[in-house]
Amino acid sequence: MRYIIFYLFIFFFIGCEQQETTTVTAQPEPSSQDKHSQIKSIESELSLISSVAYQENYIIQIINHGSPGILGYKAGAMEGGYAHESDAHNIARYVLTLSGQKSSDDIQAKKSEIFYTSNCGGCHGHEGKGLNGAFPNLTIKPLLGISMKKKSLELKLQSLKNSL
Ligand code: HEC
Repeated sequence: MRYIIFYLFIFFFIGCEQQETTTVTAQPEPSSQDKHSQIKSIESELSLISSVAYQENYIIQIINHGSPGILGYKAGAMEGGYAHESDAHNIARYVLTLSGQKSSDDIQAKKSEIFYTSNCGGCHGHEGKGLNGAFPNLTIKPLLGISMKKKSLELKLQSLKNSL
């Protein structure tokens, strides 16, 4: 009886190890159909990247959730929550107008100037020009984060196309 239990254990462990190795090796290359659908979704994101909606949404996400310090400014990361979530869209509209663009609602944008000045102006400057390379300039078009995103999507697209 003891031997039977012993062998059962051995089989159990061998079974476990085999399962582990199969899960590790089971990493199939994405099929060309997967690649085609990734290509499609990247192309559609790239086609929208200069739109007002895309840019406003980028700014809203940063107001609400922050920016992790990937843009290369001396101050590092920005925390989310400097403005109330319900004001985020209107502030984003105002920020878009700082680079001379039309926002999705310029009247609301103008009304939100005061929110921008009191919540964001301390770091980004009242005119949005940033401060001595420590804080981003918000008057450039497109914003740095958007041009970085565009570059990384273009690279990904190219490498997906090359791998077909
Ligand atoms: C305490 C300083 C500080 C405050 C206050 C602040 N920010 Fe920032 N912001 C930063 C820093 C630092 C970064 C760069 C983060 C990074 O590198 O990821 C940044 C990044 C950004 C970016 C991305 C810029 C780009 O070029 O892509 C936007 C947009 C932005 N902030 C908008 C705002 C808005 C709107 C407010 C007010 C609600 C605000 N920030 C308040 C420090 C601040």
